[in-house]
Amino acid sequence: MSLASTRVPREQFTGQVGFILSAIGSAVGLGNIWRFPGVAFENGGGAFLIPYLVALLTAGIPILLLDYAIGHRFRGAAPTSLRRLGRRFGAWTESLGWFQVAMAFVIALYYTAIIGWALSYFVFSFDLRWGDDPGTFLMSDYLQVAESEGFFGAIVPSVALPLAVIWIVAIVVLALGVQKGVERVNVIAIPVLAATFLVLVVRALLLDGAVDGLAAFLTPDWAALTDASVWLAAYGQIFFSLSIAFGIMITYASYRKRRSNLSGPGFVVAFANSSFELLAGVAVFSTLGFFAFQQGVAVGDLEGLTGIGLSFVTFPAILSEMPGGAFFGVVFFGALTLAGFTSLISILQVTSAAIQEKFHIRPRPAAAIIGTVSAAISFALFSTTTGLYVLDVADHFTNNIGVVGSAIVMSVVTVWLLRRGPELAYHLDAVSTLRLGRVWLVLVGVVVPIVLVYMLGTAVVAIVRDGYGGYSTSFVTTAGWGAIAAMLVGAVVMTLVPWRDAHEIEPWPP
Ligand code: PHE
Repeated sequence: MSLASTRVPREQFTGQVGFILSAIGSAVGLGNIWRFPGVAFENGGGAFLIPYLVALLTAGIPILLLDYAIGHRFRGAAPTSLRRLGRRFGAWTESLGWFQVAMAFVIALYYTAIIGWALSYFVFSFDLRWGDDPGTFLMSDYLQVAESEGFFGAIVPSVALPLAVIWIVAIVVLALGVQKGVERVNVIAIPVLAATFLVLVVRALLLDGAVDGLAAFLTPDWAALTDASVWLAAYGQIFFSLSIAFGIMITYASYRKRRSNLSGPGFVVAFANSSFELLAGVAVFSTLGFFAFQQGVAVGDLEGLTGIGLSFVTFPAILSEMPGGAFFGVVFFGALTLAGFTSLISILQVTSAAIQEKFHIRPRPAAAIIGTVSAAISFALFSTTTGLYVLDVADHFTNNIGVVGSAIVMSVVTVWLLRRGPELAYHLDAVSTLRLGRVWLVLVGVVVPIVLVYMLGTAVVAIVRDGYGGYSTSFVTTAGWGAIAAMLVGAVVMTLVPWRDAHEIEPWPP
């Protein structure tokens, strides 16, 4: 029986540029535009940039490089690569890979929903359809949010339609594979995105009151630096923003050619991501400065400066008052849609690559299978009147507990249990022009676990003590802890399913 004849060469990025742009496409997402400005503002403004940079250098870039090293050395999706990493304990480490896949799977379900809203608002911007009460428009007319939390609301057509569009385009891109799909989309989208960001920043800076907005954003509150929660927020933001420990970067790095530079591109991706984030902060706060100026209040007294409220309520309100608001809105929501879409593709590729390898299938059937299953669940949960509540809780748990746990396990297992840290450090140095060696190993093996265990502990204690978001305990338990439990069970089940073509996985190194 010749299994070798069924082997197909691994898909590849055409080269460094395609890889870097795709990795930036993954990193720059909804998190940069709607999450960062509010988080920075609430956590010390200008002073926040210090913990943010420290978090980037001590945890963000080291874990990013750990992801790259694992994916590139073991040349597979998260479960495949981690299984190879684990050697004799391969089944255990494979399950960590499937846990990362499960998180990516869950995030894709609601990430598509938010991109769908952005797409709707892109269209609404042309005639400023939200009128003079964007809050009511969002909650009652557009989302038609139910009175209270739950799971099974009625389908809302205005939300379901853009959601369908996003899913269809995403499935087509996935089906086209790494070079013709993922890489091509990013190579076009990232330069366009950079240009739209510049337009936004320049326009925003020219508004009356922009300076006051910037002052509110950047004036340092040094006292914030002594507050542990500010440091936690910085680490949390870095994680979400760089797309690390979700299996995303393992997957992308596995499509690089064997001898490709890794460390340098890691820094390029990380700093490009932070630049987009800072630019988004400047654009958003200049615009808020204008709004505060119009209303004759201080920027700090404005409400709805974070999360969904910022992008879908406060911003539309400002657009209605701004000269040329329709144009600005089209550019802003266009950027949001595009940034979200390139991240979505990376999130979906995690699942697609994992099942391609486990079941030995090609990108097309893989895209069709995961696309259909995910889209069905995504519709059932998020195009309904109760979607917002489930989204909020599932998002909080995945990003504050799931991914932090994943990063802790990945670094401790690699460095302390399997003792493969030096080998990966050597691998990074062997292929890269920038050699980090031991420094990287100490960060990944010592600093990262300590900081993250503290973060995880704080997050869990806060939820157990205060619940989350004012929801009922039973809802938080089912939608939050239930989601984590379901991901763990899913990970174990997927690990137990036999590999369809053992030849693909067993002999390692080749
Ligand atoms: N990093 C991207 C963002 O900031 C996408 C992403 C979000 C990836 C959450 C994984 C998890 O939006």
